[in-house]
Formats: sequence, C-alpha cells, structure tokens
Amino acid sequence: MSVAIAYTEFGGPEVLQQIEIPAPLPAAGEVALRIEAAGVNPIDAKLRSGRRASAEITDPRRVGSDGAGIVTAIGEGVDGFRIGQPVVFFGATGAYASDLVVSAQNVHPRPPLVSAAEGAALGIPVGTAYQTLRSLSVGAGDTLLVHGGSGAVGQAIIQFAVLWGATVIATSSERRFDRVRELGGLPVAYGEGLLERIREAAPAGVTVAIDAAGTDEALQASLDLVADRERIATLVRGKDAGGLGIRAFSGGSPSPLTAQQLAWRAESVPVTLALLAAGAFSLELGPSFPLSEAAAAHRAVEEGADGKVTLTP
Ligand SMILES: NC(=O)c1ccc[n+]([C@@H]2O[C@H](COP(=O)([O-])OP(=O)(O)OC[C@H]3O[C@@H](n4cnc5c(N)ncnc54)[C@H](OP(=O)(O)O)[C@@H]3O)[C@@H](O)[C@H]2O)c1
Repeated sequence: MSVAIAYTEFGGPEVLQQIEIPAPLPAAGEVALRIEAAGVNPIDAKLRSGRRASAEITDPRRVGSDGAGIVTAIGEGVDGFRIGQPVVFFGATGAYASDLVVSAQNVHPRPPLVSAAEGAALGIPVGTAYQTLRSLSVGAGDTLLVHGGSGAVGQAIIQFAVLWGATVIATSSERRFDRVRELGGLPVAYGEGLLERIREAAPAGVTVAIDAAGTDEALQASLDLVADRERIATLVRGKDAGGLGIRAFSGGSPSPLTAQQLAWRAESVPVTLALLAAGAFSLELGPSFPLSEAAAAHRAVEEGADGKVTLTP
C-alpha cells in the first residue's frame, strides 16, 4: 500500500496526517516514481497554516512539490526513461508520499554523484533563484544585494550570481557567515544598522537587490540603495510590491509568472544537476525526517533550520 501526507483543515503542523492511497499509475506523458526523498519548502508550511491564501479544502490536500525517486512505471508516449532509473522531479502535487506520478517534463535523470536528498533540495529554491536572477538580468558588473543569503533560495542566488560574474552582498545571521563566504558571497548581518554595514561592504553601491527575507528592514534597505526599482524584487512580500513600485515573483504577488519565467524555473533543474555533477554547485542539507514525521519537518522549517529539510518514506 502506498502512503502520502495530507491535511483536511488549515492549522498547525499537527494537521498533517499520513493516509493510505492507491498505488498511482502513470497516464500518457507521466512517469510513476517510488519516492526516496521529498523537499520541504517554506511555502508548504505557509499553505498548510493558511498564512498563504489558497482555495477552500474539499478533499484531503496533498503536500510537496519537489523530490527524488526511482522510476517504477512509464506512461504512453514518454521516451528517455527506464524502470529503476534514479531521477529528480519538481513542480509535482503531493511529493510527501511513498509513490507518485509526475509529468515526464518535470523529471530529470539523477547523476550518480547527486544524492536523493540533494535532488529533493532543487526544485523550488534553485528554480526561484535562477529565474529571479535571469528576470533581473544579473551579471558581470552588478553588485547584487540578497536578503536571506543563508537560506535555501539565498544560497542558490549567491552561487548563480557569482558564476555569472556579479559581486554578491548577502545578509544572514552572524552564525551563518562562513557558509555565505564559502559560496562566494560577502556576508552582512541583518538587524539594526544594516544600511550602514551594506554601504561599507559595497562602497561603489548596489545595482540590484533581491528580498528572500520578507522583513520591512530588507525592503527598506533595497529601496534606499538601488536607484532603479525595476531592479528590486521581493520573493516574499508579493502583495506589497505594486505599492512600492518594485518587482515580485510569486510570493503572494497577484501577477502570475510569465511563460518565460516558468521556463527559466524549469531550466534551472537540469542546469543545476549538471553543475552538481561537475562539483560546481553546493547544496546544504538540513535534518531529514521519516514521512510519518512530516509535522516535525514543518516545525523545523518554521523554526528556521539550517539547510534543506527533507522527508524520506
Ligand atoms: N516567490 C517565490 O517563488 C518563492 C520561492 C521560494 C521561497 N520563497 C520564500 O522565500 C523565503 C526564503 O525561502 P528559503 O527556502 O530560502 O527559506 P530558508 O531556507 O528557511 O531561509 C530563510 C532565510 O531568512 C533569513 N532570515 C531569518 N530571519 C531574518 C530576519 N529577521 N531578517 C533577514 N533575514 C532573516 C535566514 O537567515 P539566518 O538563517 O542566517 O538567520 C535565512 O537566510 C521564504 O519566505 C519563502 O516562502 C518564495
């Protein structure tokens, strides 16, 4: 019997329940997977708690979009996969499960050097980082400020931006400075006096800013430092972006992502898998929980655990 995590009411982590599901069979264009690891993202907890608005719950609502697994069945019209193949997927519905069907377009072979947990850590964080940097045309000559540089999204932002030739100032707690440095970022502590510390770290100025923290302080520092509001984006305060004249990519924004932005998000996964296989990208893994302890995994994310939290069936 297959199992999955679902909830029937919004609330605290305790609303996450393990349910039995029929073994899923792939339709045309899909592959079926035995899940080895699922990524736990902050959006999963925001949706569960109702902090991020979503449709009324009518049926048990499944959780999770990113993961890694082994191909168990292949739907009609799907080429390029074989039974038993290790893969990575993103953009699925209900990744917190033992078995899942996923559109073959969202599935990529997992290179031997990439662990299941690393594969599960890709989808939302790297997709968001890659798309945001592409949307803002970040590259050589830029000094990028990223708020929340020590988080999963921030770490991916630092690495892509450095790879593409930008200088990166990244805010984090002091305890996370070493990790930020390791990735090529210049760490600056968030909190009182932030603006002065950034000015000191970037005496020639900041040309582009990304908010992956969502605090008033982060938004204000970006507004004070970057002259061109088209080059300021928030990933968290999407609702406030219009009023501030800055850009938002999801994060509660009323504007959906464009086809190009979605294409960049999808492109990020094979790009990052290739970088990982070449030893040119680093993923920080956090605590891993059994599927039956999904509630504890959500608590860890909500308490700000270091590294990507994963679930293993
Ligand atoms: N718009 C989108 O498409 C999209 C996609 C993915 C994520 N997001 C959102 O982006 C945010 C980050 O996601 P994530 O997966 O990177 O989360 P994460 O791994 O939990 O990272 C959270 C980050 O926030 C920092 N932080 C905590 N308190 C802070 C404060 N008071 N001021 C400034 N920074 C603070 C943390 O720094 P320390 O740990 O060093 O304290 C850490 O760098 C979440 O709100 C998430 O929902 C949006």
